[in-house]
Amino acid sequence: MAEHTTILKRVTGSISQRPVLAGTEKKRPWAAYENLILHVHPRKVPLEALRFTRTWGLGGMCVVLFLLLAMSGMLLLFVYEPFPEKAYRSVMTIQNQVMFGQLVRNIHYWSANFLIVIAFLHLLRVYFTGAFHAVRQFNWVIGIILFTGILFSNFTGYLLPWDQLAYWAVTISTGMAEYIPLAGSSIQAMLQGGDETGSATLLMFFTLHATVLPASLLLLMFYHFWRVRKAGGVAIPTASEAGELEKPPMAATLPNLVLREGVVALILIAVIMTVSVIFDAPLGEMANPGLSPNPAKAPWYFMGIQELLLHFHPVFAVFLIPITFFLLVIMVPYLRYDVARSGTWFFSKAGKKAGIAATITAVILVPSAIILNEVIIDFPGWFPTLPPVISDGLFPTGLMVCAIVTFCWVIKKRTASVNNETAQALFTLILVSFVLLTITGVWFRGEGMGLAWPFGH
Ligand code: HEM
Repeated sequence: MAEHTTILKRVTGSISQRPVLAGTEKKRPWAAYENLILHVHPRKVPLEALRFTRTWGLGGMCVVLFLLLAMSGMLLLFVYEPFPEKAYRSVMTIQNQVMFGQLVRNIHYWSANFLIVIAFLHLLRVYFTGAFHAVRQFNWVIGIILFTGILFSNFTGYLLPWDQLAYWAVTISTGMAEYIPLAGSSIQAMLQGGDETGSATLLMFFTLHATVLPASLLLLMFYHFWRVRKAGGVAIPTASEAGELEKPPMAATLPNLVLREGVVALILIAVIMTVSVIFDAPLGEMANPGLSPNPAKAPWYFMGIQELLLHFHPVFAVFLIPITFFLLVIMVPYLRYDVARSGTWFFSKAGKKAGIAATITAVILVPSAIILNEVIIDFPGWFPTLPPVISDGLFPTGLMVCAIVTFCWVIKKRTASVNNETAQALFTLILVSFVLLTITGVWFRGEGMGLAWPFGH
């Protein structure tokens, strides 16, 4: 018992003893909800799983944001009209004539953007704790589908206000699909529901955004949770690795886990409310298909791809590179690893060092490559007789692949003893590079998509 208490204090610090002791018949104020809650959670969870830094509450935050989106979205539906001549005016009505309309729109907007960021952080947490190894492999794939669904939900919602920002961001993004080899034009037409961004696009995006996507996300989320539960909860280091007892000490879910989830949810809701009160969701002039803004940018989460378009031939920028990256990420759990260990942050000390080295490499290489490509490198000019797909596609891609292979080789030589660390470093390098490309596209591109200082003139 004394040993149990010591571990308990060490792991969680603040857990109250009373409810932890299974079978103690004390008064339970949550009794009325116990049945409901225990449909989602098991009766007891390992103490180690309660430690905040194990999950940072990120999966739970995604749930809260999804609920906020569903509730605020339902309210917006009462006034919004999905037709080009009415959509913009209906959003103006929401903002100016409906009581708390602006606030509801802001909550919807900020929850949607936070959801992308938080789901991405959740993905990072799962990856860097190795929580994608057996028995959780397929849940990683479900997670990636969820993340894609979140991006698509955000994208379809982006068009709905029908202002200049929305119209041109969607036109730019669907335009990128045209470069996909062979099926490009058909995919673009399918995404737009016709030859151009128009009433059919708006109605289709609205239907996807308000019915198909949320319903699919909800179903997938339940499946995701069910698989977490089937896997025995979140990944924790196994007893032998942690050098602790064979059977991990457990804590009652109620109130320990549920209380912690409640606190995280309340703090998150407070943050979203505060941001929504201070910052209004953007709304530009009404869409004008004849007047494109300069620069015309895709939504921020696609800016990494738009930035790639400035450096690679479109077939590589919008198709080959993103598809390869996407497939690699989906296959993460199915690659060959020397050790399949879940629950330890960054796998090992060497893994952490390799990850830091990857981050520093990306922070140096990506901006340098962008600037070099802007001012010095000009493959199409140097090899004017070659087709652009080779001079502007194959050549820079070849350079990039050489850089990646050299990086992996150096990491393997210097830090890694098993291939887990090299794989983790490679994942970090690619991810940080993509984030840097996105940041460049969002903040460092001005008129004509030339390089510019953010907020400067
Ligand atoms: C709507 C989006 C998502 C929701 C609501 C969600 C929710 C959750 C929750 C509540 C958990 C358990 C506790 C926690 O980690 O906080 C979890 C675990 C997990 N999630 Fe997600 N998630 C989402 C997206 C993703 C994404 C994008 C990935 C990555 C590809 C992912 C992969 C996983 C995996 C593999 C686990 C098990 C981790 C473990 O056992 O430690 N999820 N998710």
